[in-house]
Amino acid sequence: MNVLGIDIGGSAVKGAPVDTRTGRLLAPRLKVETPGKLTPAKLSGVVAKIAAQYKWRGPIGLGFPGVIHGPFIRTSANLHPRFVGTDGVKLFSRATGCRVALLNDAAAAGLAELKFGGGRGFAGKTLVLTLGTGVGSALVLAGVVFPVELGHLPLRGRSAEKRVSSAARKRNDLSWRQWAKRLNEYLAVLETITRPELIVIGGGVSAKHPKFFPFLRTSARLVPAKLGNDAGIVGAALHAAQAAGK
Ligand code: BGC
Repeated sequence: MNVLGIDIGGSAVKGAPVDTRTGRLLAPRLKVETPGKLTPAKLSGVVAKIAAQYKWRGPIGLGFPGVIHGPFIRTSANLHPRFVGTDGVKLFSRATGCRVALLNDAAAAGLAELKFGGGRGFAGKTLVLTLGTGVGSALVLAGVVFPVELGHLPLRGRSAEKRVSSAARKRNDLSWRQWAKRLNEYLAVLETITRPELIVIGGGVSAKHPKFFPFLRTSARLVPAKLGNDAGIVGAALHAAQAAGK
């Protein structure tokens, strides 16, 4: 099935049509920077613009950086607060004129990695973390992806993502080693709680894994997201295909 996968992030919206049988992008992806916190009306306009660029009429899978309950967006830690309580399916399907399936962005990355990436062929307990503007998390077991919000665990008195996200590394001008030290403290807590067999690290920074993986210490096997920054797009598309029963 061909689905337009869209990944809404803290600083940009990315999208591309995806062949959900192969996980391949059918056209080069589009990226629209979204400086500042855009209101739901403005951000859905950006999504509509991306759909229009591909002249898209088919289903759209959309990953959003917040808690998703059914069609509703429940949290918006790094986007406009007005998203909280919004019916995201209604918002984005009205803006695009297409059928929309919505899920958490880290759950999307988890789906994609499970099917086509670092967790492929592995049925054991897996923790997927995405390090970007925020920290996304999902647990995967026996083919089921379970979104969790471990980015907001308290670490030294604040939401962990404020210390360990990729944005925090840049904001605080941390060296790779310094950032890895923070990540190790966080990963130790996550391992105590979730005891995964495999940890997949995604987000844009996963492409730079040789710079910081050598400093990381985990009990679980640690791998970078194979699909890198495309995991969110591919996983959102997979979710829409699943929702359509394909
Ligand atoms: C949000 C999560 C999201 C993560 C990554 C966090 O701030 O609460 O839902 O998955 O950022 O975007």
